[in-house]
Amino acid sequence: MNIAVLGFKGGVGKTTTAVHLALYLQQKQGEPGNSTSPSALLIDADPNRSASRWAERGSPFPIKVMVGDPTTPTPAGFQHTVIDTPARPTPEQLQTLAQRCDLLVLPCSPDALALDALILTVNALQRLGAKHYKVLLTLIPPWPNRDGDEARSFLKQAGIPFYRHSIRRTVAFQRAALEGVCIHEIPEARAKQAWSDYVAVGEEILS
Ligand SMILES: Nc1ncnc2c1ncn2[C@@H]1O[C@H](COP(=O)(O)OP(=O)(O)OP(=O)(O)O)[C@@H](O)[C@H]1O
Ligand SMILES: [Mg+2]
Repeated sequence: MNIAVLGFKGGVGKTTTAVHLALYLQQKQGEPGNSTSPSALLIDADPNRSASRWAERGSPFPIKVMVGDPTTPTPAGFQHTVIDTPARPTPEQLQTLAQRCDLLVLPCSPDALALDALILTVNALQRLGAKHYKVLLTLIPPWPNRDGDEARSFLKQAGIPFYRHSIRRTVAFQRAALEGVCIHEIPEARAKQAWSDYVAVGEEILS
């Protein structure tokens, strides 16, 4: 599967999502009974190189990361590729991603500015005739905050498809990026729960 993680807004968790979905797919592929061919490749197509820098800080980083751009052809030999993209893809880049990817994951935090940008992203994808996109709500604050529920209601009313599971907000993600590890390696309960959020989304993707 070829997955692009994209959206017009910065800071909504695109890179964090690309890293953790790639890890999920890699671990899934490594399970007994699954193919032993190389599993997941993360393509860092953001000129900021956030994913590459994250990986460089860790040794060894558990996922193979390749530097590219949104039009870089997908190398052969991987079961899955996940492409991390810049916040403002050009119309040509968006078109290429929509054409070549099986799935477009649109991370979005539950706030007005991110939802506004999400609508612009969805409109642009619809103009391209793309239907294979789905929103992933990220940075969901803990109960009793209702921002996540309100964002879900908004998406439902707008008829925009979204994953049933969302990603909770935890500072453990910043710590993971700083230490060059994935969230499951951070020894905190909330980090383990956040990893289970990505696992649940990964299962939705593969179901
Ligand atoms: N679920 C989360 N909870 C808390 N912090 C998060 C979460 N997801 C991402 N972050 C943090 O939010 C910041 C932005 O995340 P990230 O870099 O993944 O976003 P992005 O959409 O890729 O941004 P950009 O468009 O600038 O590349 C980072 O500091 C990251 O650690
Ligand atoms: Mg990023």
